[in-house]
Amino acid sequence: MDAAGAPLLQVEGLTKRFGGFTAVDKVSFTVAQGEILGLLGPNGSGKSTTFNCIAGTLRPSAGSVRLAGAEIGGSTADETCRRGIGRTFQIPRPFRGLTLLENATLAAFYGAGGHIDRAEAERRARDALRLAQLPDDAAATAHGLGAAGLKKLELARALATQPKLLLADESLGGLDTGEMRQAADMLKRIRDERGITIVWVEHIMGVLLSVVDRVVVLDHGAVIFRGTPAEAQEDARVAEVYLGPPETRAA
Ligand SMILES: Nc1ncnc2c1ncn2[C@@H]1O[C@H](COP(=O)(O)OP(=O)(O)OP(=O)(O)O)[C@@H](O)[C@H]1O
Ligand SMILES: [Mg+2]
Repeated sequence: MDAAGAPLLQVEGLTKRFGGFTAVDKVSFTVAQGEILGLLGPNGSGKSTTFNCIAGTLRPSAGSVRLAGAEIGGSTADETCRRGIGRTFQIPRPFRGLTLLENATLAAFYGAGGHIDRAEAERRARDALRLAQLPDDAAATAHGLGAAGLKKLELARALATQPKLLLADESLGGLDTGEMRQAADMLKRIRDERGITIVWVEHIMGVLLSVVDRVVVLDHGAVIFRGTPAEAQEDARVAEVYLGPPETRAA
């Protein structure tokens, strides 16, 4: 909660239609200051589209998005970035010809709306790279980064914008179990050490449940569950979405 008592993020009735298809259907949830919320759901359930509507990459068809009490629904991506929303993309989008430091420095400039000098942008960039456990020397390039390294670079670019709220679209495909664990620990450290509020999107439940404070589960664009990780593991609807109807599950 901020000083006025409002949650940091309030999403209400958020809806996104593509033609006649409703990808996000009256989704509502809140995220308190300092919380890590897990946004879960199977492939195609609307998680990335929800992020895109919050972060301004897509314009919502209906509904409200408030950041610290102020309506930001329908804002552009650079407006939401300047207001303090950092996001990673599920499919990493680095500038491959640039160094890691240059990638993060550009993000720092973008987040500040250009109103910082190069030295300050580089300072923010190095800090973000260290937080994401990437080398911050001027020579390191994005060439040869594997799936885990590219995810870290996405995170560093988002962190370099100095967000209050981090929308992490992890969908940890391509990572092995050790790398998933490392990614989860990193998000937890970012919250614990920097106080950055996080919404973490995943389609796999396992590692996420050990780190998040609360869980929202989507299915076919609609919220089917809100609660604690422990409650999510006990919930029949969540199990059905993830495992199929009880009669079809392997013993
Ligand atoms: N630009 C678009 N135009 C048309 N349909 C879209 C568009 N973007 C997403 N969709 C559809 O909206 C639905 C939700 O997609 P979304 O990418 O939000 O799912 P997701 O939960 O992020 O899935 P995943 O776990 O695979 O990343 C899917 O059916 C998808 O095909
Ligand atoms: Mg997605």
